[in-house]
Amino acid sequence: MHLVRWSQHRRGRVGEGVLTGRAAGQRGSGAGTAKDLLFADAGLERRDGALLLSGVPLVEVAEQAGTPAFVYNAEAIRDRYRSLDIALGPVPHRICFAVKANGNLAVLRILRDLGAGADIVSSGEMARALAAGFDPEHIVFSGVGKTADELREAMRAGIGHLNVESAEELELVARIAEAEQAQVRIGIRVNPDVTTKTHPYISTGKSGIKFGLPTDQVVSAAEFVLRHSRLELTTLAMHLGSQLMDPEPFRQGIRRLLELVDRVRRAGITSLKVLDIGGGLGIRYSDEPTLEPAEFAAAIVPLLAPAGLTVYLEPGRFLVGSAGVLLTRVLYRKHSGGKEFVVVDAGMNDLVRPSHYQAYHEIVELVEQGRPGSKVDVVGPVCETGDFLALDRDLPGLKAGDGLAVLGAGAYGFVMASNYNSRTRPPEIIADNGKWWVARPREQVEGLFNSEKVSP
Ligand code: LLP
Repeated sequence: MHLVRWSQHRRGRVGEGVLTGRAAGQRGSGAGTAKDLLFADAGLERRDGALLLSGVPLVEVAEQAGTPAFVYNAEAIRDRYRSLDIALGPVPHRICFAVKANGNLAVLRILRDLGAGADIVSSGEMARALAAGFDPEHIVFSGVGKTADELREAMRAGIGHLNVESAEELELVARIAEAEQAQVRIGIRVNPDVTTKTHPYISTGKSGIKFGLPTDQVVSAAEFVLRHSRLELTTLAMHLGSQLMDPEPFRQGIRRLLELVDRVRRAGITSLKVLDIGGGLGIRYSDEPTLEPAEFAAAIVPLLAPAGLTVYLEPGRFLVGSAGVLLTRVLYRKHSGGKEFVVVDAGMNDLVRPSHYQAYHEIVELVEQGRPGSKVDVVGPVCETGDFLALDRDLPGLKAGDGLAVLGAGAYGFVMASNYNSRTRPPEIIADNGKWWVARPREQVEGLFNSEKVSP
């Protein structure tokens, strides 16, 4: 399979040279290195060579909490949410955080406190969202393979919208609603057949992939809903893909949804209230130009405003991705087969994105040592050649014991972590204006197998 280095449209080496054009201009500063922009997105700064996140010295966190460890900047998450909320101000809207990006209860609580809703895809995520205090009314249940049990649970919990993805799912929803005597608000997730420029694994709005209902089945699905007194069609929804930097596919998708709104209304269905345009806003992982909320809103608001519908957005990565770092420590350095390897204590089980999507994550020292740099592979302890955090990366001379921060680890980091090699998953820590606290402790080894039996 052809795998692109999809977040690596690099015009120069990260951290070197001055960016010109969009990326620099967006900050209004006129100039700034790519690393400055990454630091600004995360809320990172250097003081006397030491790296601080939301004013918290990360070397202190690494020493006290150990490594590997995820640390999330609460203030950066709040900033992101507010910037999107303000940009969408001209249209009635709700920002439903995609819990799949980061399900930590403390992170969910930060977003709930700002007024966010939640986008969930399983009963596990539903339980998390409810435990974090989200109003069930403000939860959207998405997902291509919801089970009967999950649908029943969602109805009992009074989840705001069930976004269905197939005619068979819709029939099942109708049967369960009848049995439960529940009134259910339905969204139809449409596959608008829009091409996006992102990694093929996370492009989800194109025809021929498993997501959504094809446009030619939408009206008949809407008529099915109309025939069932327990169901009400409130929403047409889409989700085009993830890590999108171009507003044009959103515009195309919205236009297709609006055409369908018209067709559904012409079929006599007057209950539509919400247009759910999914998630997908990308973030900066290296020196790529980003899609800023104002630019995003300027592209879509003119299409959305005349429709008179409430706009739902389901961002995950945009709200939390840049706000998180993964702390790790160098275990060994070695030279083999003409290559330099830096072996660290975080592996693909902690952060799978580099090996799964060939994703680029910037890596920086917790304390700058000023040693001359070289090209190295940063690899983990897991027994697979694909276990790496960075390949052929220019990094300052690193030695055993040095602490590092892997940036952009706030989304699809811990949530995709596994216990492969019977490794315990790292703690999750919140840094907030000079203070930090452990929101989820490091797993204990016994917890990995204490429910197992050695005989019947
Ligand atoms: N809504 C739906 C229906 C989704 O499927 C997704 C993500 C989102 C919202 C949030 O997308 P975001 O705003 O975070 O791009 N593990 C991959 C990303 C998978 C995204 C899956 N769906 C990664 O690490 O890049």
